[in-house]
Amino acid sequence: DHLRHVESMATLPSGAGKISHLNAVILGEALASEENDLVFPSEDFSRQALVSSPAQYLELYRKSIEDPARFWSAIASEFYWIQKWGEQVYSENLDVTKGDIKIEWFKGGITNICYNALDRNIEAGNGGKVAIYWEGNELDQDGSLTYSELLEKVCQLANYLKDIGVRKGDAVVIYLPMLMELPIAMLACARIGAVHSVVFAGFSADSLSQRIVDCKPKAVITCNAVRRGSKVIYLKDIVDAALVESAKNGVSVDVCLNYENKSAMKRETTKWTEGRDVWWQDTVPKYPTTCAVEWVDAEDPLFLLYTSGSTGKPKGVLHTTGGYMIYTATTFKYAFDYKPSDIYWCTADCGWITGHSYVTYGPLLNGATVIVFEGAPNYPDAGRCWDIVDKYKVTIFYTAPTLVRSLMRDGDEASNFSGFTCNLCYVTRYSRKSLRVLGSVGEPINPSAWRWFFNVVGDARCPISDTWWQTETGGFMITPLPGAWPQKPGSATFPFFGVLPVIVDEKGTEIEGECSGYLCVKNSWPGAFRTLYGDHERYETTYFKPFPGYYFTGDGCSRDKDGYHWLTGRVDDVINVSGHRIGTAEVESALVSHPQCAEAAVVGVEHEVKGQGIYAFVTLVDGVSYSEELKKSLTLAVRKQIGAFAAPDKIHWAPGLPKTRSGKIMRRILRKIASRQLDELGDTSTLADPSVVDQLIALSDC
Ligand code: WT7
Repeated sequence: DHLRHVESMATLPSGAGKISHLNAVILGEALASEENDLVFPSEDFSRQALVSSPAQYLELYRKSIEDPARFWSAIASEFYWIQKWGEQVYSENLDVTKGDIKIEWFKGGITNICYNALDRNIEAGNGGKVAIYWEGNELDQDGSLTYSELLEKVCQLANYLKDIGVRKGDAVVIYLPMLMELPIAMLACARIGAVHSVVFAGFSADSLSQRIVDCKPKAVITCNAVRRGSKVIYLKDIVDAALVESAKNGVSVDVCLNYENKSAMKRETTKWTEGRDVWWQDTVPKYPTTCAVEWVDAEDPLFLLYTSGSTGKPKGVLHTTGGYMIYTATTFKYAFDYKPSDIYWCTADCGWITGHSYVTYGPLLNGATVIVFEGAPNYPDAGRCWDIVDKYKVTIFYTAPTLVRSLMRDGDEASNFSGFTCNLCYVTRYSRKSLRVLGSVGEPINPSAWRWFFNVVGDARCPISDTWWQTETGGFMITPLPGAWPQKPGSATFPFFGVLPVIVDEKGTEIEGECSGYLCVKNSWPGAFRTLYGDHERYETTYFKPFPGYYFTGDGCSRDKDGYHWLTGRVDDVINVSGHRIGTAEVESALVSHPQCAEAAVVGVEHEVKGQGIYAFVTLVDGVSYSEELKKSLTLAVRKQIGAFAAPDKIHWAPGLPKTRSGKIMRRILRKIASRQLDELGDTSTLADPSVVDQLIALSDC
């Protein structure tokens, strides 16, 4: 059965010749048929690549599927284990009808991911290699740490954490911007077996508190403030408020470690709680620069990362140590064709999974040099990214479609402004010669953004790895291997080693060949999440019950005649705004918390830059009238409960919502109204009150 799947891909896509199609993909020009556009890696690129042909990919892929235990243990053996895993390399049950869902990899193996990322690379002679280049918000702020220096910093913090009583298995919440201290904090937790939970520093006090209450950390690590672009954000104030809120809910945190981020805020003006608050710079450097490793089982938890689902309550995605380590390291290596001489920059924040797997763990496990950027990609202007690329001679640049689109647009604005043809000057005034591989993540990349990225940023030289994956999957699942496959702009191409993606129909039946449907995975892979923290039942219900026997991704997907995968977006009540996953229910519950809001329904609409925008239909309580003021205060409620990034792009007044007779909101209709596709409303006869639709349309521009 498994083999059939492999065989179906075992032929080269039709049209694959040796002619380079690069010439055909001229700047900005869309080709007639998307599906047949093949963009080949250059011969030079393929020759030096780790995997240089479809045949070589297929050979490795076949091995990984036929004998996963053997395939993954060979790779795992390249890492350091104080004790090898047991007889059984992995065990899995993905079928709810056969008992509890369970995934285990390398069980019984004893290791430490921090040791493998730092000590192991230092012992291999790379102690003097730069691990992290840090670039601050301002042009003249930077710094770096070699592998040996990074290890010393990690050990000092690890010793401090142990000293305040953090033990193996304890949670630590990290609420930091992109300072070097963020990966340092993650690695320090990993070193002592503590479970980190990084909360993106754009989340509000309410959201932070909700996460603190859920995981009950021994300590919170933050900094006083950060400058992003021209704004200053006072992070410690947010933490203070979150800790007050958490205490009200029965969870008090004894220690709050604060990094003094001097360029944003001086300590003199920072509010302080004696006995709880500690300055990082006053304390941590006093600790020894070596720290014994806490050896853990492969299946001991490494971190918790909260993500949005289709209910208001965020899910604590739990990843364990061994499988995650092997998977992030291997996916990083192959999907970016990593070589030790590379300088790698991923623009994601460590507050999201991309920053966990592909800023911190994956690259450092490979001994790579990574860039950590504190600032905003368009500050001081839209050329900042390419300035950084040239400054550090970045070779691998990994980012999100939303950033590509926004830089594309800024280029155009520059041209309008200056009155002559210079629409690419923000990019072209920089060399970018060092670049050799580009990457994209977070949402499907639309072909025109793909082409701009490929042609303009990469000068039609650099393959793009469009990596499809999720917080839950730990690492890449469907991704090009840049030297192996010809690419199709907008397709994530083929599964990574060891992954068996399938497309199923409504009934959960696998569909073959050219088709579209729901994307599922039919086996386990080492990087898979093992549970939702404290709620294994929700884990099973959300991911394994919709299609028994499979892991359900929540995404739609089609496969073309050549076997390429095209992700089509979420099929559940989750929307993807600038590559950030937001549950419609979370935004709705924030809106409804406003005293003048009676009911709310949120849908995603297409957005030129963000991919999807947040569109909220709001019903007010009786007697309250519509006003711009009220829109502002509703938006503020969302910023306060979730964070600025979840603020609605549009609030649409709704005298009533389209509901079925049983009271279910028909979002299909709301989506059509939101995107002004009024001739596609479909059947409205099952609505309890069909006139609601006309009322809504009438209020579209209010
Ligand atoms: C959802 C996961 C995984 C890192 C960032 C987001 C969408 C992600 C792609 C891609 C099409 C993509 C999916 C997925 N997504 N990457 N390359 N092509 N869609 O992580 O917050 O867990 O969101 O992002 O819809 O389910 P996340």
